Amino acid sequence: MNWPANPSTCGADLEKTILDSSGPRVWQTWLLGSEVMVPNGSKPSAWCPDSRTKETQTFNDRDTLLSVGGVLIDQNGRFSRHETRLNEDVYNYLVTNNLWNKAGQRNARIDMPTGPKDLLCDGQCCGSTGAIMVKASWKVLGANDDTSRFYTLQADLLDASQPALLGLVGLHIAHKTPTQKKWIWASFEHVDNVTKLFNNPRCPQTPAYNPNAPVPCTQTCCPPNSQTAAKDPKTNTYVELSPAGEPLNRPTQVTRVLPISNALVNKQFQTLLKGSVWENYELVSTQWVDHRGNITPEFAANTTLETFDQGPDSPTHGKLPYKPFSTHVSSSCMKCHATATNSAGGSADFSFILSTAR
Ligand code: HEC
Repeated sequence: MNWPANPSTCGADLEKTILDSSGPRVWQTWLLGSEVMVPNGSKPSAWCPDSRTKETQTFNDRDTLLSVGGVLIDQNGRFSRHETRLNEDVYNYLVTNNLWNKAGQRNARIDMPTGPKDLLCDGQCCGSTGAIMVKASWKVLGANDDTSRFYTLQADLLDASQPALLGLVGLHIAHKTPTQKKWIWASFEHVDNVTKLFNNPRCPQTPAYNPNAPVPCTQTCCPPNSQTAAKDPKTNTYVELSPAGEPLNRPTQVTRVLPISNALVNKQFQTLLKGSVWENYELVSTQWVDHRGNITPEFAANTTLETFDQGPDSPTHGKLPYKPFSTHVSSSCMKCHATATNSAGGSADFSFILSTAR
């Protein structure tokens, strides 16, 4: 799915290699959640429309809000952005069963497809892979950012006066398979996230993670993983730039709370990916259910997507993400996604996409 795409088939372009750093990747040709969950009266986009080849992607203000704790602000004072995309199996399931709109979800039991048990069907690639959802996070590339270290995307930011070049900083992948019905939850990040892009190494790393940091943070150096911006009381939204286009907020001081345990695997893959931008990315964690039925690892978080609820304590700001949430029960992809409901309040099979139906 991270292979360069052939935009006319929305599959992998096998004439290119993974080391080719130009876009789009296969997952970028998948449909955005908002292109499937369209207002009633209109129809979801067709799969693999011609517009896939269009090079500039539009983000809106809502795409700056993390699921817990508000906005994430990089060292240049710019907000991060994120997007959600659905693979063809999810798309077909939602469209065939009329689950892309509120009326169709009434009384529905959501059970996304798992795909085939084996990798090959009759010696050939099976057409389906099971449901996959991705959530990607991006930062605006600006002063002090070495663009050659990033996988990039041309974007229009609706709240900004300028088109922007974005760099990929995080990628969540959730995949439902026949043996992992609670999905497998993997997350990747840019290797510079907590040393440079979202962290000022000159700031003292103390005080340690402080759930009671004031909002907005008033100290010279913010306590790690605390919100530095306050909402505009008039509009109840975070404001990124002044009318003159100057960043208004101080950077979030992000630190990693849950250590990365797979350093060796990352080294091996980074060696294989040498010479491409992908050598600057790493696997943070993969959460799944082991043979005894336990969620393993218990916790997993991406510093650019679960910045404020990495744990082990309650999130610094915002409501508790799921129940029961206690100290020592911090960020868990599976536990939080298990609380997702559809637009009628019923089942959602771990996907928050259903609740966005209109
Ligand atoms: C505290 C709750 C919480 C945790 C923990 C969490 N997520 Fe999510 N996630 C959400 C919410 C809410 C959304 C939908 C809104 C949004 O995109 O911000 C979402 C969206 C997603 C999506 C897009 C599909 C969808 O369901 O909307 C993926 C994929 C995803 N998360 C993967 C992960 C992975 C992987 C992890 C763990 C490393 C994780 N999430 C941890 C709350 C959470």
